Amino acid sequence: MRDDAGAAAILLDWYDRNARALPWRVSPAERRAGIRPDPYRVWLSEVMLQQTTVAAVKDYFHRFTTLWPDIAALAAAPDDAVMAEWAGLGYYARARNLLKCARAVVSDHAGRFPDTRDALQKLPGIGPYTSAAIAAIAFDRAETVVDGNVERVMARLHAVETPLPAAKPELTAHAAALTPAGRPGDYAQAVMDLGATICTPRSPACGICPWSVPCASRRLGIAGELPRKSPKPAKPVRLGVVYVGRRADGAWLLETREPSGLLGGMLGWPGSDWGEAPVAKPPAPGDWQEIGAEVRHTFTHFHLRLAVRAAQLPDGSEPARGRFVPRDAFRPAALPTVMRKAYDLAASHLGGD
Ligand code: ADE
Repeated sequence: MRDDAGAAAILLDWYDRNARALPWRVSPAERRAGIRPDPYRVWLSEVMLQQTTVAAVKDYFHRFTTLWPDIAALAAAPDDAVMAEWAGLGYYARARNLLKCARAVVSDHAGRFPDTRDALQKLPGIGPYTSAAIAAIAFDRAETVVDGNVERVMARLHAVETPLPAAKPELTAHAAALTPAGRPGDYAQAVMDLGATICTPRSPACGICPWSVPCASRRLGIAGELPRKSPKPAKPVRLGVVYVGRRADGAWLLETREPSGLLGGMLGWPGSDWGEAPVAKPPAPGDWQEIGAEVRHTFTHFHLRLAVRAAQLPDGSEPARGRFVPRDAFRPAALPTVMRKAYDLAASHLGGD
């Protein structure tokens, strides 16, 4: 664009009037009064917001910051408590890295996040996006923050017709050229807010957009068609089996999954590996019944169909794998979503209180 500095100033002016109030955010007015964002809250929110919406994150953010108000508290938390609170957000490797990162900040950085993008990126789970977001938002470094919102806004502003993902370098270069030296943190959040509230994926509200004049795709009448996307390969279907067992005293037969791999470290029902022809022995002797409905769940790279087998197990049952979690200690909300779906289906067979 001919006047990048002018465009950035227009957007900051819009942000001053329209910034969303978010629990982890310091408003433009607070910022002017000298209030600085808490890097811990910025980091936590940005990790949670990857591949997840602001609406879905708010409750999780509130619970995390209530239970663990600062990085030292989170670093000291037991792994399974953190994994249980993360349940439902998905992408469980992020939660494992969250804890690793908290512990690294406490042990290697005296409990304070480093304030440059390079140093941030050396921490577990902090990649190019998160390091730029924390450096800009928490430390006002002039780093360029590029997420899906920003890509969409740049593709439209500059009428980039190259499809994603090939267009990424070009879109990042446009975003970098626009990033101002002054107020880069507010600017990063302004582009994200513009993408979330006005320059939305399906029907952009160009009539009220602060960038409607410089927007090339609006002039061409193609804003709603951009960004173009290369077709994605179809996802394969994998099959699996889970066993939902309940003892006569109400305890549930659960296991903590292996620390690495999908749903690593999460609580779940014992079952098979997921593949083309799953086989798994029942985790305990019992009258296991197919419940007549299957769980369907989509992961990043495949669709999963899980057969669910349920059984009432006798008191004194000795499981070959997993452990009985007493009725009062079991929170269905601590299960990852796919396991929660199996519980919802099986509980009506077994009594789900
Ligand atoms: N999405 C991801 N990070 C965000 C932020 N800091 N503000 C608004 N939307 C976001």
